[in-house]
Amino acid sequence: MWEYSDKVQEYFFNPKNAGTLDDASGVGEVGAIACGDALKLMIKVDPESERITDARFQTFGCGSAIASSSALTEIIIGKTLDEALKITNQDIADFLGGLPPEKMHCSVMGYEALRAAVANYRGEVWEDDHEEGALLCKCFGIDEGMIERAVRNNGLTSMEQVAHFTKATGSCGTCVEGVEAVLEKTNAEMVAEGLLDPAQAFVMGAVPVVPGRQQRKSPVAPPAPASSKMTTVQKIRVIEEVLEELRPALRNDGGDCELVDVEDNRVMVRMTGACVNCQLAAVTVQGIQARLAERLGMPVRVIPVPAGK
Ligand code: FES
Repeated sequence: MWEYSDKVQEYFFNPKNAGTLDDASGVGEVGAIACGDALKLMIKVDPESERITDARFQTFGCGSAIASSSALTEIIIGKTLDEALKITNQDIADFLGGLPPEKMHCSVMGYEALRAAVANYRGEVWEDDHEEGALLCKCFGIDEGMIERAVRNNGLTSMEQVAHFTKATGSCGTCVEGVEAVLEKTNAEMVAEGLLDPAQAFVMGAVPVVPGRQQRKSPVAPPAPASSKMTTVQKIRVIEEVLEELRPALRNDGGDCELVDVEDNRVMVRMTGACVNCQLAAVTVQGIQARLAERLGMPVRVIPVPAGK
């Protein structure tokens, strides 16, 4: 159960500035109903001062989406466009007294909608119909730029965090590799710019090690030998063992996971039941990946494949 601050609850039950703005100067729309979240932000701008004199929103989403959208309108009214563009999604979350990590994507949606509305006012083209190759997560309509901005603005260094802040990878999971690549590239840039400790940076295929904490060992099986000495059949046996150990927890949540294939360090799995459409499926996959890497003694990539493949 997520903990919501009093202010989130207040802005959910009594949202401010909800509705339409008929004479809006700029409109920004992000997300899509099909994704489960969508936000339309309308702003009225004084052309002389470029100050936002009014703002309204319409959203389809959870209580956090309503609270975040409402908070955004409160924050930007009275600000100039340039001042408004300096607002980050963290400012929206802070205004609300914080959001659960799993709901930070609601604040990111507000940040993106504001950029879209300002671009619309300025007559700029907002790339909502993504260029070929720029759209990374088709399930949630998330492009490379949005991942980069979320990673930079919030100092994200894990796929779990990216899933919480953007929802990318949270459904079919076929975008995992692309999102990982953007996270790795952006973290590397941040390290080069002195914005991130190199030890914290995401490295593709590496399992994060928490300093000072013992890696968890299986209660039923001894640590596996180093992978270089393992045949594919041995690897498959270890993987099946690990999945069998994890199965009760997955089934408790109404889902399951079965092994499909193994190629070098790539482990193809099929998520079934509730795991298929669960927004936290990427987190589950990360957990399986970490456990397999520990038991196989090598970095592995767990790749969910759709049914029928
Ligand atoms: S394409 Fe990203 S979760 Fe499906």
